[in-house]
Order: sequence, then structure tokens, then C-alpha cells
Amino acid sequence: KRIVLFASGSGSNAEKIAEYFADNTDVEISLIVSNNPKAGVIERARRGFGQRLHIPVLLFDRTTFYNTSRITQLLLNQNIDLIVLAGFMWLMPSELVRAFPNKIINIHPALLPKFGGKGMYGHFVHEAVVAARETESGITIHYVNEHYDEGQIIFQARCPVATTDTPDDVARNVQVLEHEHYPRVVAEMLMMTGLANQ
Ligand code: GRF
Repeated sequence: KRIVLFASGSGSNAEKIAEYFADNTDVEISLIVSNNPKAGVIERARRGFGQRLHIPVLLFDRTTFYNTSRITQLLLNQNIDLIVLAGFMWLMPSELVRAFPNKIINIHPALLPKFGGKGMYGHFVHEAVVAARETESGITIHYVNEHYDEGQIIFQARCPVATTDTPDDVARNVQVLEHEHYPRVVAEMLMMTGLANQ
């Protein structure tokens, strides 16, 4: 019922999720948390995600995230049901993972277990996919643990990669899949655990 979004990028996925749930009274996006004050997602949140949504934004730094319990305590206090990472690059501290078992999910812009791990984010992923002459790429939505991109896979969707595709082309095709599937998978996660009806 209550979601928190962790986002430190442009925020296009956060926006799609906000749009998707804008009219759903059962699901509330309680908070956006971000470690990047210059992130596009903050400007999008300020504009109400084009939906007149007033979602508070919490900015924090590395020390607060890893050396204090502040974020974990805040999310526990707010009775958050699902933590959705949408363009958030830092590893989750173990305390947070333990406090929210199977309640943290992430989207990765490739077909894990390939092209995951440290340093595999943003454009680097698509460059690696093209360099490896892959014939397909896609998205992976997975549970989050304390290691990069290793949690159990929940959902994947694929798109072809042509021999002439540039990393930008792959990025565009993958982003279409992200926007198409992530909000729906988030909704299904909430339903599956019976959380949307509590
Ligand atoms: C997405 O490609 C997501 O897969 C990755 O970070 C990117 C975030 O993009 N984890 P945006 O900020 O949602 O536009």
C-alpha cells in the first residue's frame, strides 16, 4: 500500500510509476529518496510528476545512508510495504535489507545475470552489450540484496539488438521496456503479497 521510490537519475521510471498509481487510492507513493541533489527526478517531483502529485523528497548523503539507521528507521516508521529502486546506484546497507526482506526491488537495463555487477550501470551496460555482439538485450526486475544485481529475478523482457545498433539505440529500446513493464510489475508485487488490499 505504501511505496517508497529510491531514485537518483533522470527519474523517467519514477514518473511512469507515479503516473500509473496517480488515481489508485489503495497505493500511495509516500516518499522519494535520493542521494543526488542534481538528479532530474527531483525536478520531476517538484513539478508533481505532471500529475499534481505532492510526493516529499528526502536527500541524504553516503554517511547517513551507511553509518546511521536513519533511513531504515524512517521507512519502518512509515510502514513502507515496498521499496522500489528506479535509477539508484548505491548498494543497500545490510540493515535495510534485513528490515525489509523480499520488499526491495530493482530494475536493471540488461538481461541478468549477464551485464550486471559493479560498474554495470547506465550507458556502460549498453556499451558492453554492443561490444559483446549480443543479439538481444532487455530488462530484469529483481529482488535486492547486499550485492549488485544478484537478488532473485522476478521478471525479464527482451528486445532484439541489430548488428548496426549503437549503445544509444539499445538504450532507447530498453527504456521502452522499462516504462512499459516496471509500473505493472510493481502493482503485481503489491497484489501478490496481498498488500494492496490491506
Ligand atoms: C534505468 O535504466 C534503470 O534500469 C537503471 O537506471 C536507469 C534509471 O533511469 N537502474 P531513470 O532515472 O528512471 O530515467
